Amino acid sequence: MLTGRTWWMAGLIAVAAMALVFFIGWWVGHRGEREAPAPRATARAAVVDAAPAAGQIDPIRRGIPVDQEATPPPMARVENVDLKRQRAYPMQPPTIPHSIENYQVDKNSNRCMLCHARANAEQFQAPPVSVTHYMDRDDQFLAAISPRRYFCNQCHVVQTDARLLVGNDFKDIDALLAAAAAEANPPGEAH
Ligand code: HEC
Ligand code: HEC
Repeated sequence: MLTGRTWWMAGLIAVAAMALVFFIGWWVGHRGEREAPAPRATARAAVVDAAPAAGQIDPIRRGIPVDQEATPPPMARVENVDLKRQRAYPMQPPTIPHSIENYQVDKNSNRCMLCHARANAEQFQAPPVSVTHYMDRDDQFLAAISPRRYFCNQCHVVQTDARLLVGNDFKDIDALLAAAAAEANPPGEAH
C-alpha cells in the first residue's frame, strides 16, 4: 500500500513534469516571434543570371549558345508570405503578395473579388481594388468592377523567387529627384 509520503512525492513529480512540458511548449511556440523577419526587398537585385556570351543575343538562354541544349533552371517558387514589394513607380500594378493557386477568374466567377471587392474587403482584411478598377475608358464610374479590369492577372502577377533574366539600371524617381536636387544645391554652398 502507498503511504501518504509516496503520494506526496508522486504528486510533486507529476506537477514538475507538467510544468516542464508547458515551458517547452511555450518556448517552441514563441521562438519564431523572437527572430525578426529579415528584410527581403533589397536581396533580389543581386541575382542576375550571367550576361549573354559574346555573339549571343538571347538572355533567356542564359549565355548558352543556340546549338547547345541548356539545362532548364528549377521552376520559381511563388512567395506566399504576405510581404508587399515596393512599387517601382506610382502607377505600377502592385505584385500579389500571396499565392493565387486555384483562384478561378472566368466569365462566371471572379475569385479575387471575393476578397478585393469594396464590400468584402473588411471581412477578409484585403486592400479593396482602387477606384480606377471601377472606371470605364471614358473615366465614368461603374457600380461593379470595370470589364477592362476584370481579368486581374493581365496586370497583377504573383511574386516569385525567380532570378532576373536581364540586368537593368532602372532608377527610382525618388533617386532621380534627389540627384537633381543635389546638383541644383551642392552641399556646402551658401544660399
Ligand atoms: C482569400 C482572400 C483573397 C483572395 C481570394 C485574393 N486576395 Fe489578394 N490580397 C488579400 C489580402 C488579405 C491581401 C493583403 C496582403 C496579404 O495579406 O497578403 C491581398 C493583397 C493583394 C495585392 C497587393 C495590394 C497592394 O496594395 O500591394 C494584390 C495586387 C492582390 N492581392 C491581388 C489579388 C488577385 C489578382 C487575386 C485573384 C487572382 C487575389 N488577390 C485574390 C486577400 C485575397
Ligand atoms: C489593366 C490593368 C489592371 C487590371 C486588369 C487589374 N488591375 Fe489592379 N491595379 C492596376 C494598377 C495600375 C494599379 C495601381 C494604380 C491604381 O490603383 O489604379 C492597381 C492596383 C490594385 C490594388 C491596390 C489598390 C490600392 O489602393 O493600393 C489592388 C488590391 C488590385 N489592383 C487588385 C486587382 C484585382 C483583384 C483585379 C481583378 C478584379 C485587378 N486589380 C485588375 C492595374 C490593373
